[in-house]
Amino acid sequence: MIISIALIWAVLVGFCCLLWLAVGIRHRLSGEPPVENGLIPYLGCALQFGANPLQFLRSRQKKHGHIFTCKIAGQYIHFLCDPFSYHSVIKQGRHLDWRKFHFATSVKAFGHDSFDPRHGHTTENLHQTFLKTLQGEALPALIETMMDHLQDVMLKSDTLRPSKSRWEVEGIFAFCYKVMFEAGYLTLFGKEFGDDKCQARLTAQKALVLNTLENFKEFDKIFPALVAGLPIHVFKSAYSARENLAKTMNAENLSRRENVSDLISMRMLLNDSLSTFNDVSKARTHVALLWASQANTLPATFWSLFYMIRYELVRARCSHTT
Ligand code: HEM
Repeated sequence: MIISIALIWAVLVGFCCLLWLAVGIRHRLSGEPPVENGLIPYLGCALQFGANPLQFLRSRQKKHGHIFTCKIAGQYIHFLCDPFSYHSVIKQGRHLDWRKFHFATSVKAFGHDSFDPRHGHTTENLHQTFLKTLQGEALPALIETMMDHLQDVMLKSDTLRPSKSRWEVEGIFAFCYKVMFEAGYLTLFGKEFGDDKCQARLTAQKALVLNTLENFKEFDKIFPALVAGLPIHVFKSAYSARENLAKTMNAENLSRRENVSDLISMRMLLNDSLSTFNDVSKARTHVALLWASQANTLPATFWSLFYMIRYELVRARCSHTT
């Protein structure tokens, strides 16, 4: 009897494996890049990718070449490792449905109600907001504000004050993160009303920005896991970091700030007039914008500075030896 039950189970498991091999595995079609399905059903290569993304991508690039496809948490994702091919993909922009991914991912990661008008929480065309406030005629003013804040943050910062007898030493990674985050944050969300010469107020303002940066980093760490579909409640500290960010961006706190960018002012207006979002959802949409404005900018600044310094060092060494 026990043997026959074990046999039934073995046949069932065998059948499921065959079914997975037949239906759950994507085979490479002609003209498509090589495919890696991974060994675990549904997860595919998710665990290897999550453990060390760079090592994973380098090893697959060695195996398959610059372009390949991997199954990660139920999704087939195409990877393009050759920077000279990006342009060809970007040129096809109008055939790529960014919105489909964007709407769902934003809800999963930031926890606000959906921006997709078909879900009935809003009727607006979100993309228009970005076109109106981040490019064309709106861009010069935005750049000027960012430049002013960059100057303020770097030249008036405690770290660089010449009267200080002792300099604070920081790695360029931490330096780039602090300087760019503060300047970017103030550019989008403005400053609290008040006297700019009052030292206590400036110190409090700085502390708020640095605290916001810590919350941002805590949340950003787990962003790939959220995109892959894991619920944020699994990551307690990242969840409270995201909620702390949202608290600093609720309507009451934003109303105490001046020089708020056109992007955030317009979003506040549209959230109030065209959506049925509640206050928490509205604040979380601002967290999404903070993340969009910083998540690529911070590492891009670090790498740009890193290569500039390295290039300068190499050049200085070469001119020294010749
Ligand atoms: C080096 C810096 C940055 C990089 C590499 C970067 C990259 C990207 C990419 C690849 C997208 C995907 C959507 C698309 O292709 O249209 C995107 C979207 C977006 N980015 Fe950036 N970004 C950077 C900085 C910024 C900054 C400073 C802001 C300031 C607000 C920003 C705001 C946005 C917004 C709002 C979207 C969504 C656009 C939409 O849904 O139409 N980004 N970014």
